[in-house]
Amino acid sequence: MHLTHLLRAATAGLIAATALTAAAHTAEAADTLGSAAAGQGRYFGTAVAASHLGESDYAATLDREFTSVTPENEMKWDATEPTRGGFTFTAADQIVNHAQSHGMDVRGHTLVWHSQLPSWVSPLGATDLRTAMNSHITQLMTHYKGEIHSWDVVNEAFQDGSSGARRSSPFQDKLGDGFIEEAFRTARAADPAAKLCYNDYNTDGVNAKSNAVYAMVKDFKARGVPIDCVGFQSHFNSASPVPADYQANLQRFADLGVDVQITELDIEGSGTAQATSYGNVVKACLAVSRCTGLTVWGVTDKYSWRSSGTPLLFDGSYAKKPAYNAVLTALGGTGGGTDPGTGAACTATYSTDAQWNDGYNGKVTVTAGTAPVGAWTTTVTLTAPQKVTAVWNATATWDSSGNVMTVKPSWNGSLAAGASTSFGFTVAKNGSVAVPTVGTCTAS
Ligand code: G3I
Repeated sequence: MHLTHLLRAATAGLIAATALTAAAHTAEAADTLGSAAAGQGRYFGTAVAASHLGESDYAATLDREFTSVTPENEMKWDATEPTRGGFTFTAADQIVNHAQSHGMDVRGHTLVWHSQLPSWVSPLGATDLRTAMNSHITQLMTHYKGEIHSWDVVNEAFQDGSSGARRSSPFQDKLGDGFIEEAFRTARAADPAAKLCYNDYNTDGVNAKSNAVYAMVKDFKARGVPIDCVGFQSHFNSASPVPADYQANLQRFADLGVDVQITELDIEGSGTAQATSYGNVVKACLAVSRCTGLTVWGVTDKYSWRSSGTPLLFDGSYAKKPAYNAVLTALGGTGGGTDPGTGAACTATYSTDAQWNDGYNGKVTVTAGTAPVGAWTTTVTLTAPQKVTAVWNATATWDSSGNVMTVKPSWNGSLAAGASTSFGFTVAKNGSVAVPTVGTCTAS
């Protein structure tokens, strides 16, 4: 066994012990996403970029809240085998090591995908391509053998729309329909302990595309092709909302005898609407016994692959959004109280109360942690040229840019443990549709 693997195996033993300790704590304080999900027998994960691990707020939020990580790009083919047979694992190892030293599991993403392929793959002829695909799977899974709880073996192999057909790709076009089966068989041989998943988007409800994936999984199960799980990416926005039959769709796959996982969850929006959708996704997973965990596609809005749309649970300042509280509550956690990572005595969350053409009313809810609070302070940051025209239930002062408002209580500083108050403000949009961000809450 390679030295790195021996070290990792030793760490895995420690992690198992840590996991037991964490489980013992779960009943006492399910006040993070990970601990609340563990109380339901699920993991709660996030996509992670190695380049952000050095940012202290990013790492602190990751380490406090999540029990599973998915490398966002670092395990993809272009990142791991940029030249044929030339493997590089530096960035992926960084994420795996970080995860292991903080007691988190790792999802592997992804082995065979038409996108983010290095340029040497596409020109290969069929025989060479088959060899290259199997070698890539084997090398990656061997490097991380025993360290990945689930692998996305094949990603996004079906077309959108009503055809239910396979997507054109070098693998599909040169190797034919059998490439998926071959990839799964190779993967099973490389790491028999890893759950092998097929992962896709726009398959979250019952539709032509999910029907095609369903038929493939059914066929695989009937013929003994090794598949353990189906990943539902769950990228939602107003054009593609959480489908009404989301839970029913997860359940029909589970009924085929595979686990289901929510693998890349993000939902564009803000405030109550976004929070409600997030809560509904979590509830659907919990209602399906074979839904083994959820992963959100990023820690903070500021690093989401969606450059606009604020789709995640933490805002750009790492403040918990209403969506965070909705997820924590749906997981049966104790919501919005003391931040166990920083010992914060209060939290502040933003929602939009009312909107009209050129303005809106924002609302910030301030909640005391497990101890009473005598007074609190938080910040609200606007995007220019928006301007606040009124503030109520609080006193506000401004920084020199005029965009950051520091807010203190007026009559409502004193809060009992766990109690909430709120303040509001009116904003003139001046042409900008940006959503304000709320900073950390501090108490005295
Ligand atoms: O790292 C380079 C940087 O050096 C360069 O300067 C910069 C210039 O464009 O690009 C950087 O790479 C970008 C990479 O993300 C890392 O940030 C790529 O351009 C960009 O295309 C890549 O986007 C990723 C995307 O997959 C690519 O398809 C996103 O981060 C990632 O979130 C996204 O994830 C996918 C899942 O893997 C599969 N399902 C859909 C999901 C969202 O698109």
